[in-house]
Amino acid sequence: MLEVRNVSKVYEGKVNYRALSDLNFTVKKGEFVGVMGPSGSGKTTLLNVISTIDKPSAGEVYIDGKPAFGLNKRQLALFRRRELGFVFQDFNLLSTLTVKENIIFPLTLENISVAEQDGRVNRIADKLGISHILNKRTYEISGGQSQRTAIARALVHDPKLILADEPTGNLDSKAAKDVLETLQKLNKDDGATMMMVTHDAQAASYCDRIIFIKDGMLYRELQRMDSRKEFFEDIMNVLTSLGGASDELSSVRL
Ligand SMILES: Nc1ncnc2c1ncn2[C@@H]1O[C@H](COP(=O)(O)OP(=O)(O)OP(=O)(O)O)[C@@H](O)[C@H]1O
Ligand SMILES: [Mg+2]
Repeated sequence: MLEVRNVSKVYEGKVNYRALSDLNFTVKKGEFVGVMGPSGSGKTTLLNVISTIDKPSAGEVYIDGKPAFGLNKRQLALFRRRELGFVFQDFNLLSTLTVKENIIFPLTLENISVAEQDGRVNRIADKLGISHILNKRTYEISGGQSQRTAIARALVHDPKLILADEPTGNLDSKAAKDVLETLQKLNKDDGATMMMVTHDAQAASYCDRIIFIKDGMLYRELQRMDSRKEFFEDIMNVLTSLGGASDELSSVRL
């Protein structure tokens, strides 16, 4: 489904900065993969490269066997819009629009009938438990509802791959749990492939596998074998070996 091959990213400036160094890994169809690592280790950079928002300095990203950076500008824009779904930490909702209008937004660029758009919005809203707030403005809903709206918008076009950068970073623990359970359900029931950056071991324990990054390099991988509780403990152990308490793994985004 996703293959990151020999990917490096150097930010050029007065002083060049190597944010990613020869990364290699694959994500299977239907997998729910977490990305963890200290602040500044390159997690957001990695997600931006996979989502083709940012170009790698070397290497290639293959999505369904297709080299993402072999596409021209127009193909790339279409690819991003049709095949990928993004969830950001700060929701990125349009406050002048209602919940429904926000969710429908990605579809309005496509040649899809209004009836079909409505049908899709209703199905996804139902799944995410936000049917009753579809006509509210985004400033009238809670943080958890905002995040679920952002997830609905990311999923409404049935993307092949869902990328989430700290999707629970702005939520209290109850709302975070709801959002994580929703993501897990979408992954298990609909077979959606997901990659989620998180600094929170609790959130990470919902994943099937965790990729740990340190200084732009692959540090370790952890596969979930047993219960979520045991996976959580395994994750905590790796975080400890990474150095610093887990709460030093900052959620501050650049
Ligand atoms: N546009 C940029 N120009 C130059 N350097 C950058 C740029 N964006 C990020 N960096 C640097 O690259 C490194 C990796 O940044 P990145 O945002 O990927 O980290 P992160 O792992 O997401 O951190 P956090 O957990 O704080 O969000 C950091 O040292 C950062 O300073
Ligand atoms: Mg980041």
